[in-house]
Amino acid sequence: MQRYMAAASILCAFSLLGMLYLQKLSVVTTPETNIMSKTFRLSSWRQPNGSIDFEMITKSENFVISVVKPRPVHRVGKQLSIKIVAMDSRGRPKSYGGDFIRTKLYSRSPVEASTAGRVTDHGDGTYTATFFLSFPGTLSVSVKLVHPSEAVQALKKFRDGSIVRRVMVCGFQEKTNVTEWMFCSNTPNKSLNLRDVCDFSRPLVNVTFYCDRPRFSPCDSFVGCHRDHSSTLAMHDKMATADEKKLFPRDRDLLEDLPRNMSIRVKGKRLLRKVRGKPLPLCAPRLPQTASEGYWFNGNWTSLRCKAGKFRTVESVTECLRNKTLFFRGDSTIRQWFRYLMLFLKLQQHGRGSQPVYAIDEKNNIKFHFLFHNYPRNQMPLMDGKDMGYVAEEIDGIVGGKDVVILISLWAHFSAEPIQTFRSRLYGIRHAIERLHSRHPETKIIWRSPNTGHHQQFQHFVENGDWYAFQLLPVVYEILGDLNISIINVWEMSESMWHNDDMHPPDDVIKNHVDMLLSYICPFNNG
Ligand SMILES: *[C@@H]1O[C@H](CO)[C@@H](O)[C@H](O)[C@H]1NC(C)=O
Ligand SMILES: *[C@@H]1O[C@H](CO)[C@@H](O)[C@H](O)[C@H]1NC(C)=O
Ligand SMILES: *[C@@H]1O[C@H](CO)[C@@H](O)[C@H](O)[C@H]1NC(C)=O
Ligand SMILES: *[C@@H]1O[C@H](CO)[C@@H](O)[C@H](O)[C@H]1NC(C)=O
Ligand SMILES: *[C@@H]1O[C@H](CO)[C@@H](O)[C@H](O)[C@H]1NC(C)=O
Ligand SMILES: *[C@@H]1O[C@H](CO)[C@@H](O)[C@H](O)[C@H]1NC(C)=O
Ligand SMILES: *[C@@H]1O[C@H](CO)[C@@H](O)[C@H](O)[C@H]1NC(C)=O
Ligand SMILES: *[C@@H]1O[C@H](CO)[C@@H](O)[C@H](O)[C@H]1NC(C)=O
Repeated sequence: MQRYMAAASILCAFSLLGMLYLQKLSVVTTPETNIMSKTFRLSSWRQPNGSIDFEMITKSENFVISVVKPRPVHRVGKQLSIKIVAMDSRGRPKSYGGDFIRTKLYSRSPVEASTAGRVTDHGDGTYTATFFLSFPGTLSVSVKLVHPSEAVQALKKFRDGSIVRRVMVCGFQEKTNVTEWMFCSNTPNKSLNLRDVCDFSRPLVNVTFYCDRPRFSPCDSFVGCHRDHSSTLAMHDKMATADEKKLFPRDRDLLEDLPRNMSIRVKGKRLLRKVRGKPLPLCAPRLPQTASEGYWFNGNWTSLRCKAGKFRTVESVTECLRNKTLFFRGDSTIRQWFRYLMLFLKLQQHGRGSQPVYAIDEKNNIKFHFLFHNYPRNQMPLMDGKDMGYVAEEIDGIVGGKDVVILISLWAHFSAEPIQTFRSRLYGIRHAIERLHSRHPETKIIWRSPNTGHHQQFQHFVENGDWYAFQLLPVVYEILGDLNISIINVWEMSESMWHNDDMHPPDDVIKNHVDMLLSYICPFNNG
């Protein structure tokens, strides 16, 4: 329940309208706060024998959508609200919330422009999507159902009912060439006796990591881990009933844009670095939440969070990064930033494969260093641990300073973990950041948020689904939000982009991420 309340309060805090609006929104009910009183309604789509009444499942084609307070012409700088009434597959209104909905306001011509809406769940089958109008045009509305409420309830059940949603095995091998493969997890199995596990936890950084103890080899003969694909699939198979699996259709027609036949006329000058006449703040830590992160306009992202520049020439990037050392720590989505900058500056990559990777521009004294985060990691080839590190331990090992920037992204491999594992990891990182900042307060730390991904099979929804990734974002704000670090939230950029969803967004999206990143490193250069 707390998770959802946190999510709700973050969504609330996103409002520009001040306290009044905040109070109004904070009484909005969310699916989980309702569960107690609405257990019956929430479970009414399940038969007593566990099978699902598919006629009761939300159907996106049947959504009834209307503009709240429609006008012939809307103005840039104002909000626009859309009411969504969810219907089941027979066209009856739903009586409970929980549908995972994405909305977008966009124009195709004369420019391709788009922005994401924020959806408030009223808990009764109705939703309000709120858009911040930031560009003019005759705009269309897109309302997509990522998951019907019933699928979200199943995802919650999977999350809360099992320790992990992915099986990892690690090898132990002493002298002989016989490797014993044991189940390992970052989340303790409470029914196991400590005698029966190898405990690789790092209490100093709040990391837990256990393996079932091998029979013949000692714990310290650990050689590395890999994803056990077939056990993972077998686990997914057992986790869900045949009916529950049908809640996650393989073909993603549900995510297709349905024509909503809604046309919104917006007039005014598009917002650039000013909102309602007030200049945006410089990009810096702890910026106030805004009604929108920004919008796309002909392939360029305009931030409404802060005054972000464009860094599209080698000179402007070099000028920003001169004398700086950038430590990239986390998953492959931060490695994308590393690679983009390295290739853009035409630097040579040092280190091979997944080994630690460096790139150096000696002339301008610019250094990049990437290291993958430690377990949990979802990978088939053996990971021996040499090319990875716990982010908190890495931070402890970095000498900070005004020219040191640490870039962190930690999410993609955590979607299949209980949220508690992510929370512990973040607390460990929080304390490491506090230690670093007490030594070198001017060290810049930048956190990259999750983005939407592309999912087709049940396995992907259960392990890496957007619903799970989206739940991680409020946890980041909750645990790290008050620190002197910058959180770059790219979720809305990815929701509203002109590409198919992709966990690793294409280069012209990354280019816009990097504009944001450099705007936080060099807030005074306007690119
Ligand atoms: C479960 O119950 C429903 C209605 O009571 C019935 O239509 C369905 O066939 C049953 N399913 C199974 C697997 O018994
Ligand atoms: C490794 O194991 C194989 C099969 O068990 C055996 O034939 C081989 O001699 C072993 N090699 C060593 C170096 O122990
Ligand atoms: C936890 O340990 C018990 C006892 O060995 C075992 O039966 C169970 O399968 C384990 N659970 C998981 C999720 O590994
Ligand atoms: C929306 O427009 C399309 C194409 O113009 C039309 O076929 C469809 O019937 C319309 N739908 C509604 C709900 O008006
Ligand atoms: C996008 O931004 C770049 C850099 O400022 C600029 O050169 C380009 O014209 C912009 N594209 C559009 C369509 O505005
Ligand atoms: C970079 O370092 C050099 C040598 O220490 C120094 O002269 C120069 O002012 C520095 N430039 C910036 C922008 O920090
Ligand atoms: C470790 O994480 C848990 C949350 O999982 C948190 O309650 C606890 O305070 C953390 N401990 C430290 C030392 O960071
Ligand atoms: C916060 O961090 C910035 C660098 O991101 C630094 O310049 C500033 O001094 C820090 N503020 C405090 C209060 O430590």
